[in-house]
Amino acid sequence: QKDDRKFSVLIAGGGSTYTPGIVLTLLNGLDKFPLRKLKFYDNDGERQKKIADATAILIKERAPEIEFEATTDPKEAFTDVDFVMAQIRVGKYAMRSKDEKIPLKHGVVGQETTGPGGIAYGLRSIPGVIQLVDYMEKYSPNAWMLNYSNPAAIVAEATRRERPNSKIINICDMPIDIMDRMAAILGFKDRNDLDFRYYGLNHFGWWTEVTDKKGNDMMPKLKEYVSKNGYWVGGDYDAHTEKSWEETFKKAADVYKLDPTTLPNTYLKYYMYPSWVVKHSNPNYTRTDEVEAHRQKMVFGECKRIVDAGTAKDTEFKPDEHSTYIVDLCTAIAYNTHQRMLAIIPNEGAISNIDPTATVEVPCLFGANGPERLSMGKAATYQQGMITEQNSVEKLAVDAWQEHSYTKLWEAFSLCKIVPDAGVAKDILDDMIVANKDYWPELK
Ligand code: NAD
Ligand code: LMR
Repeated sequence: QKDDRKFSVLIAGGGSTYTPGIVLTLLNGLDKFPLRKLKFYDNDGERQKKIADATAILIKERAPEIEFEATTDPKEAFTDVDFVMAQIRVGKYAMRSKDEKIPLKHGVVGQETTGPGGIAYGLRSIPGVIQLVDYMEKYSPNAWMLNYSNPAAIVAEATRRERPNSKIINICDMPIDIMDRMAAILGFKDRNDLDFRYYGLNHFGWWTEVTDKKGNDMMPKLKEYVSKNGYWVGGDYDAHTEKSWEETFKKAADVYKLDPTTLPNTYLKYYMYPSWVVKHSNPNYTRTDEVEAHRQKMVFGECKRIVDAGTAKDTEFKPDEHSTYIVDLCTAIAYNTHQRMLAIIPNEGAISNIDPTATVEVPCLFGANGPERLSMGKAATYQQGMITEQNSVEKLAVDAWQEHSYTKLWEAFSLCKIVPDAGVAKDILDDMIVANKDYWPELK
């Protein structure tokens, strides 16, 4: 029987810098994932409008049959939707900047998803993402939400507890980006030419196996390369890679040396080399400043250029690993393909010697009923120790949010591997409470 379904997609966080990439990927892939409707939702209508006005032109030129709408009204946004792609940043770059700069002031790594900054962002994100889930369940109960909103580990732990039956799948593009790099290093086209085994937490995981599609072991060649260059490819591949990411991809060489039997996620650099990271940070110019000067400027500048020109025929926007991954996931669910892809989900035995209630990142088979986790076996002693500690940090952060507990949050900060002691943890926490007063529950 002919399948002539067409889907309705909502991008929540329509004003995100990642939205144009997703739109381009959707428009390029209509033969595989046909659309009848595309909607944007954001609680900042003005920011969203800049991207929506350019998107309207793109759609008119490339697929005028798709109904397009941008709104700040939850009912309008979430009604008649098949897939929600969520990418909100509660508190926007202004708050991200504080997440980075406050810990650095105390000599501690300041990062979007890592350490005190990540925890602070987590407490802002939790209610924002839960609100999106509730809108979806109210207005389109059969829809699926693919959520990129960070910090994904803490958000996933909170949705596991607060909305255990909801159809939200938390995802991350970092391993995807790294796997595209692995493919480039090996001379393949992209990540889809590789099979893999991977386990850990979000921004905190390891590849134990990478093979080509015939099953040949690619690990020796990759290890040889990564031990020297990290995941830095260079040349045309990295022509537009920002400075801080160059450093991160190269630093993977040192991270790899801690366990030469696996290949690491780049974010582990923050946990293994925090003093090095602090030494290489400028407390007055952090990643937020770089994003505002580069990605945000480029995206909003290009939108304005499209609107002023009245055409998007020569646009610089293009699909990337972030956008292709989320669209591939929707396609796998829509067509029940059982494609093997990573997700951040309750462990339930996937890593056999890790708490079954931990929220882990492992490969899953994606079909019409969502992800089916694959068993990754046992974590090695080093990884088991690291995962257990970091997962406790994430659990304590969610406890603190649920119970409005100062002590639990202090425990979360102080247990974090990158914070030297409980005194420093308290100093950072007390500054964070003031900075986040409009977002956090009042702590007792
Ligand atoms: P951005 O600030 O450019 O966009 C976020 C948008 O969310 C803004 O337009 C903002 O107004 C909107 N927003 C904030 N709170 C909202 C709410 N409660 N309801 C509706 N809209 C809200 O951010 P960005 O840099 O494009 O990143 C977007 C998100 O994606 C962030 O959470 C970021 O951390 C995340 N991200 C995740 C991954 C991943 O792999 N998981 C990768 C990149 C970015
Ligand atoms: C970004 O803004 O690029 C991120 O979401 C990841 C990061 O820290 O750069």
